[in-house]
This record gives sequence, structure tokens and C-alpha cells, in this order.
Amino acid sequence: MAVKDTTAPRIRARLLAALYLAQEQYGWLSPQAIERVASRLELSPGQVYTTASFYTMFKLEPRGKYLVQVCEGLSCYLAGGAEPILEHIARRLDIQPGETTPDGRFTLEVVQCLAACGTAPALRINDELYENMTFESIDALLERLRSAA
Ligand code: FES
Repeated sequence: MAVKDTTAPRIRARLLAALYLAQEQYGWLSPQAIERVASRLELSPGQVYTTASFYTMFKLEPRGKYLVQVCEGLSCYLAGGAEPILEHIARRLDIQPGETTPDGRFTLEVVQCLAACGTAPALRINDELYENMTFESIDALLERLRSAA
């Protein structure tokens, strides 16, 4: 079998779409998910892993049901967010950035900008963007997610 060039636009597009779908289905890209994508697209697992590890949107380790991404970019910082919000959420969830709650519900991450600078401070949970956040709105949001099925 000839080695496919994963930098070719069509192959790259199909690979990214397949990785996105696999992550949607399994929550993260396990070695088994990487192998499955590789097999489907007739690529080597190494090629798939190299691409997946390049993009921060792909998760190569298990994560919580809710991936909480707190922006610590300049606009969020100037709007009173960033570190204070990160510390608030870390205290509420009792985890540090990069960690997952023991019940597997929340993973906390820091990101640099969510492209919501005009409505900072912002955070994202899974694919949902939350803007103009306050400690109160964060508490209400976390409580809603805690009690969600
Ligand atoms: S700096 Fe936070 S959304 Fe841009």
C-alpha cells in the first residue's frame, strides 16, 4: 500500500473530519480510536496520531463530560476574568487546570483566546461559548451542569 500524504488538502480534510467525529463519539481519541480512523482512511496510526497531536482541539487523554475552558487572554484579564475566574472555578470544582473531577464530570483547561474578546470574560464548555461571565453566573452554570443527566 502506498503511503498517503496527510498534508494533501483532501486527505487532511477527511482526516480532520474523521478525528472530530471519533472524538465526538468517544469523548477523546484513545489509541483504539486512532487505529480505527487510520484503518478507515488507509493511513498508519502514526500518521493519524501526528495530525491529532498537532491540534489542541483533539484530546489524546480521557477528559470529563464537560470540558471547561477558561480564557486567560488579555481582554478577559482586563475585564476582571482570566486568573480570578480560573481560581474560582478551580475552587468550586476542587481541581487544578489539566485535572478532571473524580466523578469524571468536569475537566478544567486554560486557553489563550476564545475569540469573544468583546464580551469578555469568556469561557467555553464543550462546544458552547459563555460570555460576560461573573462568579454568580459561573456558579449557576456549574450547578446546572452538575445536576444535568
Ligand atoms: S481574550 Fe478572552 S476571549 Fe479573547
